[in-house]
Amino acid sequence: MFDKQIYIARRQKLKQQLGKGLILLLGNEESSMNYKDNWYHFRQDSSFLYFFGLDKPGLAAVIDIDGDRDILFGRELTLDEIVWMGPQASIADQAAQVGITDVEPPVSLASVLQKARSSGHTIHFLPPYRPENIQKLSGWLGLPPAGVKEHASVPLIKAVVAQRSIKSSEEVQQIEQAVDLTAAMHLAAIKGAKDGMTEAQLAGVLQGIAIGGGGNLSFPTILTVHGQVLHNHYSTTVMHEGQMALCDAGAENAMHYAGDMTRTFPVGKKFTAVQKEMYEIVLSAQEAAIAALKPGVLFRDVHFIACEKLVEGLKAAGVMKGDVKEAVAAGAHTMVFQCGLGHMMGLDVHDMEDLGEPYVGYTEDLKKSTEFGLKSLRLGRALEPGFVVTIEPGLYFIPELMDLRRSEGKFFDFINYDKLEAFRAFGGIRIEEDLLITADGSRLLGKPLIKRAEEIEAARG
Ligand code: GLY
Ligand code: MN
Ligand code: MN
Repeated sequence: MFDKQIYIARRQKLKQQLGKGLILLLGNEESSMNYKDNWYHFRQDSSFLYFFGLDKPGLAAVIDIDGDRDILFGRELTLDEIVWMGPQASIADQAAQVGITDVEPPVSLASVLQKARSSGHTIHFLPPYRPENIQKLSGWLGLPPAGVKEHASVPLIKAVVAQRSIKSSEEVQQIEQAVDLTAAMHLAAIKGAKDGMTEAQLAGVLQGIAIGGGGNLSFPTILTVHGQVLHNHYSTTVMHEGQMALCDAGAENAMHYAGDMTRTFPVGKKFTAVQKEMYEIVLSAQEAAIAALKPGVLFRDVHFIACEKLVEGLKAAGVMKGDVKEAVAAGAHTMVFQCGLGHMMGLDVHDMEDLGEPYVGYTEDLKKSTEFGLKSLRLGRALEPGFVVTIEPGLYFIPELMDLRRSEGKFFDFINYDKLEAFRAFGGIRIEEDLLITADGSRLLGKPLIKRAEEIEAARG
């Protein structure tokens, strides 16, 4: 946990931004896997962590702007809970750790909200994503569960996004810790992959490193020899020499700040010539994108720079043809790069995605496109110092997409379909790193991890 002054200052800023009303922030509950007491590992809500720092289930908080009070709602453990789970600090002691003196039991929350509503105060809350919190809000506010989300407060969403988007130096330190842990996972994957091993065996090693680092995975590991499937999780598929393994994995540290990296490496000692050729294309796109990062630049334009580099490389390889800019404008690159270049990262691996991409990644003047490819670009807006972003271009050869586009007669000016046929079983390549936007450019977060094809082959040897 940070020093309590940090949480006090964050809440103070939120109050100033909102001006009036009552802010309700809900922590998460335990969530059951298959029967009540068999839980998934607990993950606190990230905005609750940001403003209240407390990493325990069943908490809620109200920031009463007009009354200038912050109240923590929580329940003391029963004797049975202490017997089975051990003691925990009292709610008052937990509250004190983050600069709060007002505590109440959860049952009081309904009447606090009722009183506020009857005296005409606005209750600001964030869009809920857990069923338990949807149900609670539905009961408190007299809304049908399906209608709760649309009553979430846009001013609160905007104020939270404004604060959480700019990472403070303490936060950057935490993120770097998570990224270093993430890099250690990737080095273990690069060095540990063996012909005959299953994807799951390797993914298990990575999870061990994340948990051993004091936190957990920041998202379910993607580790596969079928890297063309963008979010293909590990399975019992056996990996073989000649294939490439795509590993997209990350740790969150003990404070729940995320890392998110991808490396693609040969299961044998070396890339084949064509694998290496494609790898170099992805690397050049990644380097060009990183070089373009600076305040004021639209991330959407950085995305296009990467797309152009991919097309340029594929043109040199004979797979694409025509004018590079025209190809990208026509969307021909989406044959091999169907997603976005990256996203914000912080307390969530896709930072604040629960608050809504229109607010996190876009603005009133720059709306997200609905076109194939661009609709998956989570971040489009102008970069600012303090943003933490991922840069993750890739090449994904998806036979079903090749067949569909060819049958539709699309992109014939830009794609040599006969050459593309050779890539039906190629798979996919992605390279991903995490960067901080600085006053005049960007800085790679964490200690650099091997990335050039030769470095990866040396580690495989
Ligand atoms: N880990 C999924 C992503 O890179 O966005
Ligand atoms: Mn990733
Ligand atoms: Mn990512």
